[in-house]
Amino acid sequence: MNADIPETALRAMLDEALRVNNAKSEFLAHTSHELRTPLNAIIGFAELLQIKASGRLDPRERGYLDDIIQAAFHLQAVIQGILDFSRLEAGKWPLVEEPARLAETVEASLRLVRKQAESKRIALSHRADPALRVLADPTKLRQICTNLLSNAVKFTKPGGTIRVDAGEDADGPYIRVADSGVGMSAEDIVRAQKPYMRVADNPFVARESGIGLGLPIAKALTELHGGTLEIQSAPGEGTRVTMRLPATRRLA
Ligand SMILES: Nc1ncnc2c1ncn2[C@@H]1O[C@H](COP(=O)(O)OP(=O)(O)O)[C@@H](O)[C@H]1O
Ligand SMILES: [Mg+2]
Repeated sequence: MNADIPETALRAMLDEALRVNNAKSEFLAHTSHELRTPLNAIIGFAELLQIKASGRLDPRERGYLDDIIQAAFHLQAVIQGILDFSRLEAGKWPLVEEPARLAETVEASLRLVRKQAESKRIALSHRADPALRVLADPTKLRQICTNLLSNAVKFTKPGGTIRVDAGEDADGPYIRVADSGVGMSAEDIVRAQKPYMRVADNPFVARESGIGLGLPIAKALTELHGGTLEIQSAPGEGTRVTMRLPATRRLA
């Protein structure tokens, strides 16, 4: 900090920086919303066509329809990520707390990635204590778990394994996703948690789609619960990500 700059000027600069950051968050939230509405129409009508007109289309045309739907879902997920992240940055995504079972979180998230894992011949296994209940926001827990799982599927080569555990130890309740994938160096781990950052010098990562918000969102949502996201990884040796909630969130 330059001691020659008067405090009033520093304050003005800080105010300006905060104003710009706020404007950015609002712009992103507004734009994402504007993009989502037409996208929902595209998805809805393409699906309607698939149901009603499929019989009149030749196989190639049916393929095009599948591509439209696939691409639109992908775009929807990207936009949702940007919207979620801007809401989190602006502190406008409060927790809605209720009793939740980590086993249900894990099972709901597994359902979303199972198909993709199967198509890559990745063996998915899990163990979750069905009696373990926490006070948390179940939607956000699901999102954390889904983001971690989708990374595990994405960054694991065909024939690999993914293991999910939900339980508790002396430090509190946790969900852990471990994969046999490409892994990350210590430097990569730091970068990967920053928004819009990917381990781009890994050709396997570069080939996979994504804009680098999954981990930052999972981290921010975990921290919103007062918890921590812990990443253990080494290049070529797989990755273990643990979402840990404070022990005080454990319900009897
Ligand atoms: N399970 C994992 N194994 C290896 N690398 C990972 C894993 N999870 C995340 N990464 C790295 O961290 C980066 C950031 O992850 P994320 O924020 O989810 O972004 P995205 O999935 O859009 O690339 C990824 O691009 C990848 O380089
Ligand atoms: Mg991701």
